[in-house]
Amino acid sequence: MLLEASLLSLAALPLVRSETVLGLYIFSRHGDRTPKILAPTNLTSLGAEQVYFSGGYYRNRYVASDATSPIRGLSRDTAALQQLTVTAPIDNVLQSSAQAFLQGLYPPAGSLSTQELRNDTEVTAPLGGYQYIPINTVDNSFSGTTPEDSPWLQGGSGCSNAVVSSNNYLSSTEYLTTYQQNPA
Ligand SMILES: *[C@@H]1O[C@H](CO)[C@@H](O)[C@H](O)[C@H]1NC(C)=O
Ligand SMILES: *[C@@H]1O[C@H](CO)[C@@H](O)[C@H](O)[C@H]1NC(C)=O
Repeated sequence: MLLEASLLSLAALPLVRSETVLGLYIFSRHGDRTPKILAPTNLTSLGAEQVYFSGGYYRNRYVASDATSPIRGLSRDTAALQQLTVTAPIDNVLQSSAQAFLQGLYPPAGSLSTQELRNDTEVTAPLGGYQYIPINTVDNSFSGTTPEDSPWLQGGSGCSNAVVSSNNYLSSTEYLTTYQQNPA
């Protein structure tokens, strides 16, 4: 009888987790964009979809109430602004990418955004409870006192080997084949 009881309580325990996630630092790239040579450069619909899905991936893994590796104490469905810091450089494509990513991370909250006024009227925020998460701008250079002050990564910047490698790609079979398949 005792054995049965303890087996039962074991079965009621959640699966043992191998890790407790206390926080997360995500470096994310922008999505598909129009060519830089055709200014102004924009995030395309495909690009928006890419980063939105990427945000959804992080949501399912770390944020949602049924996330596989939930961040301890993190607000699940409504973004708690004191728990988030979002930065992107001053750039259309990067700012738009951050916005679309956040929409995947914290989609519109729907009825969770509904609040009751003092006069008993209920108000739901516009656009289905779209969540406003500020995206701070970041300088594209290491101007801060520590790298954490300027979370901007572009390993190729100022690297002559990266330029050579990038230029070599222009004579690769992969590039030439793709180029021929996509006439301007
Ligand atoms: C970017 O968007 C603007 C505004 O919609 C448009 O005028 C411009 O042509 C777009 N750029 C490219 C390269 O598509
Ligand atoms: C309650 O207040 C809101 C906001 O001022 C207003 O739009 C609404 O008409 C009010 N409702 C009633 C029943 O007075």
